[in-house]
Amino acid sequence: MAYPTHRPRRLRRTAALRRLVAETRPSIDGLVLPLFVAPGSGRAQPIAAMPGVAQLSVDRAVDECKAAFDLGVPAVILFGIPERKDAIGSGAYAADGIVVRAVEAIKSALPELLVVTDVCLCEYTDHGHCGIVENGEVANDASLEPLVKEALAHARAGADIVAPSDMMDGRVGAIRAGLDRAGFVDVPIMAYAAKYASAFYGPFREAAESTPRFGDRRGYQMDSANAREALREVALDVEEGADIVMVKPALAYLDVIQRVHERFDLPVAAYAVSGEYAMIKAAAAAGMIDEERAMWETHLAIVRAGASIVLTYFAKDLARRMR
Ligand code: PBG
Repeated sequence: MAYPTHRPRRLRRTAALRRLVAETRPSIDGLVLPLFVAPGSGRAQPIAAMPGVAQLSVDRAVDECKAAFDLGVPAVILFGIPERKDAIGSGAYAADGIVVRAVEAIKSALPELLVVTDVCLCEYTDHGHCGIVENGEVANDASLEPLVKEALAHARAGADIVAPSDMMDGRVGAIRAGLDRAGFVDVPIMAYAAKYASAFYGPFREAAESTPRFGDRRGYQMDSANAREALREVALDVEEGADIVMVKPALAYLDVIQRVHERFDLPVAAYAVSGEYAMIKAAAAAGMIDEERAMWETHLAIVRAGASIVLTYFAKDLARRMR
């Protein structure tokens, strides 16, 4: 049976009908706003490649969290820019490190806002790699201990969720064991499980001052050609104790989000990364696309693919639109 009995256009005729039959209804509840915290006070240092995003001193980060929370955004994820970087990324686990201080300040001002912390060394190493470098290579096993120490420092400060993004093998298990040993059995791990080596991280590296000084991240982040390998990565992280699994970037990996969502019964997160944000902002600034509509359409696609949690620099704008 087809036309003229069936006319799909019937359900598209008015806004009310379209709203009634919408299959995908993104919720504010799944939004996570990324924030870059830096030393100083009263400081907001704009990031050129990410209009509307800035490196914020802790006090300004608290203000930004209040603004997001007032709009209904339930969670933020913190990235730290330390005072000084060194070869081993010791700022990542310093007792008075930048993320530690930010977590403490945010949790005391807004106890109900979920604070997620990115666990990685790249923001803290002078070479910009995500782990410890030995003989010109990022050494997997030597990188686990500092990552565990970093996750512990964040948990002690009061982080609600830790999110390892380094892509070392075995780090989820090591962090889980470290947290458990220290009594943090209830701190969940959101694993950047399928994280690809991507051109779309470009603006973030300006924001976090974490561009590798030599080489690139292809020796540890995933090859864009692979989707089945993503399922393997996710399976390993699940086995090691991940509570939430993430696919990153989002828009160029919708197939991966969908497959992860079909295969696994854990919550699936997706990270709409800096380059995805910058593309929409730049095209809109050039008058080439409508920013609001492009933001919404891409967000719908990510949720439709199966992500119930979306880390996005548009979190406040999306929340405003959904209210
Ligand atoms: C670092 C990290 C990166 C991002 C999140 N965590 C950058 C990278 O791997 O180079 C990218 C986020 C973005 O582009 O918005 N470990």
